[in-house]
Amino acid sequence: MTSKSASPPAPEVSARASAPKVEALFSSAEIASRIDALADAIAAWRTSKEPLALIGVLRGAVPFVADLARALHARKVPLLIDYVSAESYKGTASTGQVALGAPPTISVAGCDMVIVDDILDTGLTLAAVKDSFERTMPARIASCVLLDKTTRRLNGLEAEFVGFECPDVFVVGYGMDLDGRFRELPFIGTVR
Ligand code: IMP
Ligand code: MG
Repeated sequence: MTSKSASPPAPEVSARASAPKVEALFSSAEIASRIDALADAIAAWRTSKEPLALIGVLRGAVPFVADLARALHARKVPLLIDYVSAESYKGTASTGQVALGAPPTISVAGCDMVIVDDILDTGLTLAAVKDSFERTMPARIASCVLLDKTTRRLNGLEAEFVGFECPDVFVVGYGMDLDGRFRELPFIGTVR
């Protein structure tokens, strides 16, 4: 790992601590309002007459995909939804290697495709996922991330649709975890 890929400072509590405190960074109301704005932008970007393919990156993007999908439905955008699993983090540190699971089986040829992830950090995950979907022949591919840690990028990758710029701290909640914990929180915060 290069010095640029050094991981954010580890929280001083374990994921199993009985009463860890999570300090809010983005409230559920702020998240909901940004998702409405993202849905507007994605609906305006779409040009293909085929359904829009929303591909969520497991596991962190699950709540985001669900809320974004409903916001797109409210804007009358028909969807094809599927997921791909990608793993690059152990605890609070990026391993620098991306392990991708089996690709979705739905046909997305000719569809506009949006790859949806919780957080864009080094950029390695999104680059690997985007790359693996080029061969499925979508009309166009864009990516949508709820959070963007712009200072940690290793490959210059930018997402077309970004919810919030995120400081270089390890965050949990709204799908994001520390060793499996905190995904259920309706807000995003840091573990204290
Ligand atoms: P990248 O490949 O370094 O861009 O990492 C992206 C993936 O790392 C995301 O999909 C998350 O699963 C995970 N990740 C990066 N930063 C955080 C964080 O602060 N909290 C939780 N997961 C994170
Ligand atoms: Mg992830």
